[in-house]
Amino acid sequence: MEKTFLMVKPDGVQRGLVGEIVKRLESKGFQLVGAKLMTISKEQAEKHYSEHVSKPFFGELVDFITSGPVFAMVWQGDQVITLSRTLMGKTNVLDAQPGTIRGDFALHTGMNLIHGSDSPESAVIEINNFFKPEELVTYTRDI
Ligand code: CMP
Repeated sequence: MEKTFLMVKPDGVQRGLVGEIVKRLESKGFQLVGAKLMTISKEQAEKHYSEHVSKPFFGELVDFITSGPVFAMVWQGDQVITLSRTLMGKTNVLDAQPGTIRGDFALHTGMNLIHGSDSPESAVIEINNFFKPEELVTYTRDI
């Protein structure tokens, strides 16, 4: 079963959107297999965003994601990596369509509420950056 790493960013936690975001993912049919409210260390943030290290906004990115608690999650389901990104909406809020999480709730690209892994390779790296294997549950049957 495919797994992905999704994270409600500090803006989403502070705006009280954790429940709304979890509801949308559950309603789609995905299964939550790991979750925790946590504050990310600078080292963890720099690792998470290492592909953006040369971008002019890298410093802002790390400062923002470490500025308050995030809600880190692992979800599983068929095509969960691609389909959860569809539910999230485009990164640039100007392109995020109504009906998506970002399209409905985000005003700024730098504060776009949610992060989601963009490939199976990233999902493995990101899950391992935030969760220990024993923090994930397994379901005994699929429904
Ligand atoms: P995320 O999916 O967490 O991955 C990288 C993040 O960089 C992205 O979401 C945006 O929040 C952020 N980002 C992308 N472009 C910009 C930008 N031009 N200025 C600030 N942040 C950006």
